[in-house]
Amino acid sequence: MDLPVFHLDFLNNRMLIAIIAVLHVVINHGMAVGGIPLIAYLERRGLRTGDGAWDKLAFQILSVFFIVTTTIGALTGVGIWLSASLVNPYAIGSLIRVFFWTWFVEWLVFVTEVALILAYTLTWKTWIGPRKQAHVKLGVVLAIASWATMALIVSILGFMMDPGSWHSDRTLFSGMLNPLYLPQLAFRTPLAMLMAGSFGLVIVPWVTERGSQLRTEAIRTIGRWMLAWTIPCVLGGLWYIRAVPDAMANNLAVALLTQALEGWANTAIRVLMGACLVITGIALWAARWPKSIRPPVLVTPAILAIVLLGTFERVREFVRKPYAIAGYLYSNGLRVDDYPLLQRDGILTHATYTTVRRVTPDNQIAAGREVFNLACTRCHTVDGVNGIRDVLARMYGDDSAWNSEAIVGYVGAMHEIRPFMPPFPGNEAEKRALAAFLVSLQFERDVIEGAQVTGVEAPPRPTSPDPAPIFVAI
Ligand code: HEC
Repeated sequence: MDLPVFHLDFLNNRMLIAIIAVLHVVINHGMAVGGIPLIAYLERRGLRTGDGAWDKLAFQILSVFFIVTTTIGALTGVGIWLSASLVNPYAIGSLIRVFFWTWFVEWLVFVTEVALILAYTLTWKTWIGPRKQAHVKLGVVLAIASWATMALIVSILGFMMDPGSWHSDRTLFSGMLNPLYLPQLAFRTPLAMLMAGSFGLVIVPWVTERGSQLRTEAIRTIGRWMLAWTIPCVLGGLWYIRAVPDAMANNLAVALLTQALEGWANTAIRVLMGACLVITGIALWAARWPKSIRPPVLVTPAILAIVLLGTFERVREFVRKPYAIAGYLYSNGLRVDDYPLLQRDGILTHATYTTVRRVTPDNQIAAGREVFNLACTRCHTVDGVNGIRDVLARMYGDDSAWNSEAIVGYVGAMHEIRPFMPPFPGNEAEKRALAAFLVSLQFERDVIEGAQVTGVEAPPRPTSPDPAPIFVAI
């Protein structure tokens, strides 16, 4: 709570990160991590068969991947960390403390990757004849660099879900080699290859002539490529699912849909599995009967793969709740270890930026609004996505006045009733103030604007020493 609260009261902060992150992952996996190996494979094929058409096709696919990865791909990559640091600076701060060297090395690898993709693209037409072999090798080195950036970042994603022995060791390597790291990497690698194949199927009809031998052969080759990666993807996925901690698996139903639609979770799982089967079916079709397959069908795997990957990322981010870093930092940006202190003194006392320091009988609603801002806005808006008015109206109905005592009771037990929410971090008076504010929302519209709009106020903190110090592990 040492930093001003950035907040988007309509879109929701989580959604901001989600849009940028999913776009990035789709591009990164499909066009870089999986894309470059696919292109190098097609280029090598051209070299082996001596058929220039393959070489041309590989270059056309590369041109698309090159433009998208170096523009939207690179920008959204930075955008993830920028948006995540705005929304939850404490989570990113903690991660930087643990993963400083990982990120530093990742930056070096990323810069190398950019230099390599520039070199690979720009030398395509000049490294020909006897130098073609070297060019294919350059593609392989680029593919390794693309994979390495993902391999480094996945360690951080795994850590957030389960830091494993880092809880006791607190070393970089125990953090990197967390229990979810290798399973997640084993899943994402073939997944990226499959995504690349599905994007390839979209591009081929676009750059080849209808009915041409090249189109048929290219569709067949990419179909086979996808089939080859399907089994590793399924095995990696199963390994990953088994590694996910049980407490998180229980969040799956809400993670897939919303609480209101929780009952549909099994149907959603069936639909998603169906989508996987459709992709595999089309890959098989492409590999066996490439001539008979039409462009609208060829686009289907890419669309389904984007939906599946988006769902996968959403679920991964959601099941981790109530934590940003499991067992260490809650999603509201507060450390588990700080809770006793905050629950005794109140969060308003320890927040740097708040207009209210102490709850009094006269400032209930204003104080409650600050408490909501500090404790709930990482996941809730007032009236936008996951709006608090909506969830309260669903719980208590909108016909009669909401009961502030009932809300006090709910907030005190919210982490038990809905384990994806962190426990309430403040003291008793703040809980009552929060309830007063929430009740006021039933009849009065409010919009909570973030510090990016309102600016900040930081009244002095109380100076009296704490009556009974609580020792907090750092
Ligand atoms: C880690 C994210 C997170 C935080 C922090 C959080 N919530 Fe929630 N809350 C959720 C999600 C997700 C839902 C379920 C929304 C849905 O699917 O409909 C929810 C649902 C609710 C519901 C309806 C629950 C039900 O049983 O139907 C209430 C009430 C609620 N939140 C209040 C609060 C209050 C008050 C705070 C702050 C003290 C808070 N939440 C903090 C994520 C969070």
